[in-house]
Amino acid sequence: MKDFIVAIDGPAGSGKSTISKIVAKKKGFTYLDTGAMYRMVTLATIKKNVNVENKEEIVDLLKNIKLNIEKDKFYLGNEDVSEEIRGVEVTSNVSKVAAIKEVREELVRLQREISQGKNVILDGRDIGTVVFPNAQLKVFLVASSEERAKRRVKEFESKGINISYQEVLDEIIKRDKMDSTREESPLLQAEDAVLVDTSSMSIDEVSNKIVELVDNLF
Ligand code: CDP
Repeated sequence: MKDFIVAIDGPAGSGKSTISKIVAKKKGFTYLDTGAMYRMVTLATIKKNVNVENKEEIVDLLKNIKLNIEKDKFYLGNEDVSEEIRGVEVTSNVSKVAAIKEVREELVRLQREISQGKNVILDGRDIGTVVFPNAQLKVFLVASSEERAKRRVKEFESKGINISYQEVLDEIIKRDKMDSTREESPLLQAEDAVLVDTSSMSIDEVSNKIVELVDNLF
């Protein structure tokens, strides 16, 4: 089968990318991390010293940058920015850039183009509602903010980055609020999405559950 789309949406740190990678590997699907694409545009904005509030300049900049994605590596032009896009500066500015209509239109166009003719699992905020409203399977992953902050702190620690739990929690709450209340494609559970609360589930439990959901349809 081709063009089988799995849409994984949910708030920051709900485990979307970890789970999507596992499910993609198990099922032989392509994985597309759409958050990384918004992060790349944000990094380009910072690198070019464009103010993240300056919509016109960001839209202009978008025409002059090339996002190259190769498996789990992300390149701005030829530069590998896979690590840099996860940094604190990008993270604290990305929701502003992601709220710009023209940025979303261009990235959604790219997401559809990349997915064409393949079986794909995409994670993000608007996959089931906007990018692929006809996706065969939609999952909305949630977890308590406290649990999500704990996971993020661990992730940072594993990379040798020290960051306080409170700082991470505050950032997650702030970003969720911006993502959920913006006008353009806000973070929203699609009506036909399966809600999975991962607060007290292990990575294996969540990925097995989603593989099972895929297997029932694929
Ligand atoms: O991994 P984490 O949940 O921290 O974030 P991400 O998935 O990398 O997404 C970073 C940011 O990009 C989000 O906070 C949203 O502002 C934006 N985003 C979006 O607007 N739409 C998407 N489909 C994916 C991400």
